[in-house]
Amino acid sequence: MQRIFSGIQPTGVPHLGNYLGAVRNWVALQNDHDCIYCVVDLHAITADHDFRTLADQTRDLTAALIACGIDPQKHILFHQSAVHAHLRLAWIFTCVARMGWLNRMTQFKDKAGKDRENVSTGLFTYPNLMAADIHAYHATRVPVGDDQKHHLELANDIAAKFNHDFERDYFPNIEPLILGPAARVMSLRDGSKKMSKSDPSDQSRINLTDDADTISAKIRKAKTDPEPLPTDIEGLEGRPEARNLIGIYAALTDTDHAAVLRDHGGQGFGNFKKALADLLVEKLSPIAAETRRLLADPGYVDGVLRDGAQRAAAIANPIVDEAERIVGFLKV
Ligand code: AMP
Ligand code: TRP
Repeated sequence: MQRIFSGIQPTGVPHLGNYLGAVRNWVALQNDHDCIYCVVDLHAITADHDFRTLADQTRDLTAALIACGIDPQKHILFHQSAVHAHLRLAWIFTCVARMGWLNRMTQFKDKAGKDRENVSTGLFTYPNLMAADIHAYHATRVPVGDDQKHHLELANDIAAKFNHDFERDYFPNIEPLILGPAARVMSLRDGSKKMSKSDPSDQSRINLTDDADTISAKIRKAKTDPEPLPTDIEGLEGRPEARNLIGIYAALTDTDHAAVLRDHGGQGFGNFKKALADLLVEKLSPIAAETRRLLADPGYVDGVLRDGAQRAAAIANPIVDEAERIVGFLKV
């Protein structure tokens, strides 16, 4: 069975982009893979974070992942800071990766913006840690949203250079799994920006904790254009907001853009938005309710994470021990 690894940052509430681009696929992959899913709190401190709330956000996100259908018994669910093997391998990878490679990472450029001199050095070296997350488990498949593509290419470049420099075929090539019609969910206010936890406008995203009225209001107010929906995919050309809403609908109903347009093409946005809002409420409300139920017993979530970290460490420690030997560290 192939091993899957993926991660999500405990910064803010998870949103529809996280769910459709990543977590929903993580759930489906549990049927025929051996899966390791990680709440990446080490990544969360690369940008300004609130030290007062990070621990609670880690708990809340863990509960949301279980509510979405991640099975912490059959698979492994843990938080990154509890397994130090990630940091040991990240340091080795930091010395393998080249400045030029990291300089090309578009997400760093986007996140740093004009403030390049003033962001943390961790934000720059973050892809090394992400590569370590995956390779510490010899994972071979990584389900992510479209925005992580460059980071996974870098993880393969790092592994190849490690194998070459130290003359051992030690780290496997990884295959990105960027799946479904909503691998890149866009902001509800601007079809050219991705939906993001860090967007200052809450209207730009659907949070997995939003109640039915909030979801309906956000979809009703979502930006669209004045034309009716097209009847085929070509008609979505140059209409990013329409494409986004159709993609969301397609993902939630397990179809594709073409099938949704066959049913809804030719209509105005009013009816379609109503159908989409109802569908979102139907799919997301049970997740929010289950998250609240799980959090009512905080001991439960902490127990899951403690157990997950132990099982994760049992896999990662020997793999990283061997990487340290390969690099040449004295082991006594
Ligand atoms: P993050 O919240 O940045 O830790 O992202 C966790 C996962 O959600 C990653 O696999 C991302 O690629 C995915 N993701 C984040 N935002 C979006 C989005 N707007 N559309 C699709 N996938 C996303
Ligand atoms: N960088 C990813 C994000 O921001 C999260 C992440 C960290 C991750 N480590 C990972 C994803 C390893 C896949 C595999 O979304």
